[in-house]
Amino acid sequence: MFTITPAGTMNRLFVDGPDASDYPRINDYFNRAYQRDPENFSREFESLRREHEAFHSLQSIAGYCCAKPFGYAGDFRLIDRLYTHYIGSGVHIARWDAFAQAQPAAVAVRNRKTYFIDLMKANLPANVLNVASGPARDVLEFFGYCPDAAVVIDCLEYDAHAINYAGSLLKGNCRVRFTQQNILTWKAEGTYEMVWSSGLFDYFTDGVFVRVLRKLLGCVAPGGQLVIGNFSDENPNRAFMEVGMQWFLHHRSPEQLIDLAKQAGAEAWNPEVKSEPAGVNLFLHLTKPA
Ligand SMILES: C[S@@+](CC[C@H](N)C(=O)[O-])C[C@H]1O[C@@H](n2cnc3c(N)ncnc32)[C@H](O)[C@@H]1O
Repeated sequence: MFTITPAGTMNRLFVDGPDASDYPRINDYFNRAYQRDPENFSREFESLRREHEAFHSLQSIAGYCCAKPFGYAGDFRLIDRLYTHYIGSGVHIARWDAFAQAQPAAVAVRNRKTYFIDLMKANLPANVLNVASGPARDVLEFFGYCPDAAVVIDCLEYDAHAINYAGSLLKGNCRVRFTQQNILTWKAEGTYEMVWSSGLFDYFTDGVFVRVLRKLLGCVAPGGQLVIGNFSDENPNRAFMEVGMQWFLHHRSPEQLIDLAKQAGAEAWNPEVKSEPAGVNLFLHLTKPA
């Protein structure tokens, strides 16, 4: 095993679970070992995963993400665990879940929900296309702040489990409509004042990113905006996500996002990249010329 702390210290941490004062040391452990030899560290980490519930149990954040019960990392249940500050039961899992929830990447996921709500409140669009809506907790909370908003939100999502879950959260809200579709094969219809997609494009290669973006450009009404979230290449938790959680994303820089927007034909859409307060989730903003 990689030794980067005094012998036995890391073992104790894995058994007991960390407290807040241990968090910097754990990140340092993941980041340094992964940077030194990613393949070897990943292989060696598998024995820690087998030994420690916090890294294999469905009740834990990291174990659930790694197990991929719906076939992919970052499903609606995991994302909603992050949104709702879920902590699994038992001291060992609870301590590791508290670590996961305190990390900038988890904070950034929660911040993107706020980012969506703030965008909605600032622009009050009449209609929205929400691509890859997942648990739709962002939509639910928006209506909590603006119960009378005159908006129709079309949620496009390919996982039927996610749609059922989100539908149960938003039960009775007839301003939210769900469509089970794969964005790759979906035939675009109509236009929207706002098109929003977070937690999707960072699963795409550059080629697919450009292809889907080009499709979505056709869904924006004149003067309307398209906002796409993507994890930053400066994510300080990448090692923990990739090794501890088996959650791999295409991290990108602001320059890369702007370049992809141009490749998709959005040069004249005033491409701009902003970020949530943690600086981990970037947002590409495009405005269709009126
Ligand atoms: C990480 S979650 C993000 C959910 C939500 N946008 C959020 O930020 O809370 C990604 C979602 O994308 C959906 N998804 C992945 N690929 C998709 C595709 N090709 N078409 C439609 N939805 C897709 C998944 O089912 C999942 O619910």
